[in-house]
Amino acid sequence: LPLDQSGVWRFRDLFPILENFDNAVTLREGNTPLYDLPRCAKAVGLNWLAAKHQGMNPTGSFKDTGMTAALSVAADRDFEWVACASTGNTSAAMAAYAARAGLRSIVFIPEGKIAWGKLSQSMDYGALTIQLKTDFDGCVRILTELVTRFPIYLLNSVNPYRLEGQKTPAFEILEQLDWQVPDHIVVPGGNLANSSALGKGFLEMHRLGLIPRLPKISIIQAEGANPLYRWFIDSNRIMRPVTADTRATAIRIGNPASWRKAANIIDKLGGWCEQVSEQEIALAKAQIGAEGVGCEPASAVTLAGLKKLVALGKVTRDERVVLILTGHTLKDSQYTIDYHRGELLTEAENAQISASDQALHTAL
Ligand code: F0G
Repeated sequence: LPLDQSGVWRFRDLFPILENFDNAVTLREGNTPLYDLPRCAKAVGLNWLAAKHQGMNPTGSFKDTGMTAALSVAADRDFEWVACASTGNTSAAMAAYAARAGLRSIVFIPEGKIAWGKLSQSMDYGALTIQLKTDFDGCVRILTELVTRFPIYLLNSVNPYRLEGQKTPAFEILEQLDWQVPDHIVVPGGNLANSSALGKGFLEMHRLGLIPRLPKISIIQAEGANPLYRWFIDSNRIMRPVTADTRATAIRIGNPASWRKAANIIDKLGGWCEQVSEQEIALAKAQIGAEGVGCEPASAVTLAGLKKLVALGKVTRDERVVLILTGHTLKDSQYTIDYHRGELLTEAENAQISASDQALHTAL
């Protein structure tokens, strides 16, 4: 059955969202590899480190696991149009699954602020692709207006069915580790749906009695797009939106929709929140690339953040850590070329690279 070949739908008993599963829209998503990262482990001072590579999904990001579920519901409910605002990956995934389901799709993206690979995907899959002169948060506002006026199915991460699909990598990680619960999962944080979904997945496994304990889940943001980090270090725990800016365009988000859910996951599972600089992201990305694995910039915040968690004593040498790599390296090839040509970082950013990182930086 095609559904049994999907790393999402093979867990369908754990998300009964359709009357008839034969109508599910699938591109054989999920079943992504868990790679060990021995050189990165050594560089950060851990005995063992692995990466769950969600960039190995059909459209090259973790968004496919959510879109297969949500598009199936849209098709099941006879919608003709679906839409999302996106920093690029959600739109690529939505466009592909909508096309597969025979639905029309509308994409709102911030002009000039998404990687070409992602823009090209939504065009290739036939979405009505609209660039707006605003940021991601502005795109969300305009889209929210639109869906109240027209019968369009909203596929942003507030869509609950996306979270159901996006929880399944938690199950796969457990399978891949022979049900030995890892100590710590490290996830990038943008709109904060992915961290919430993974937390939900682990909590459900725990509630079903399939695992004896929970992993910690830590969320890492870019310094220039860090509203959750600010919330985390604020003694009053107040969330204030920020004007976001980072070269990791996937997570260039200042007003995250799912922050309450993510905050709840950090609190329940006992994780941490950190922020990382542009130079820390660039270097971590090159280190992941040098393992023969590679990822897009937003995914590399995980390794950059892990270095900080180790330095703070939040992760210790013997702990087993899994990084969630959310997108494929080919999503943003311009970033990689700029970095290796020495054209990505400014003089001021280069000057802030720490001595130990400087040695690595030169070696790469
Ligand atoms: N990594 C990548 C590659 C992403 O594309 C995103 C989000 C994230 C991390 C953050 O995940 O939002 O669940 O916290 N991209 C969205 C998009 C916003 O429109 O593609 P999150």
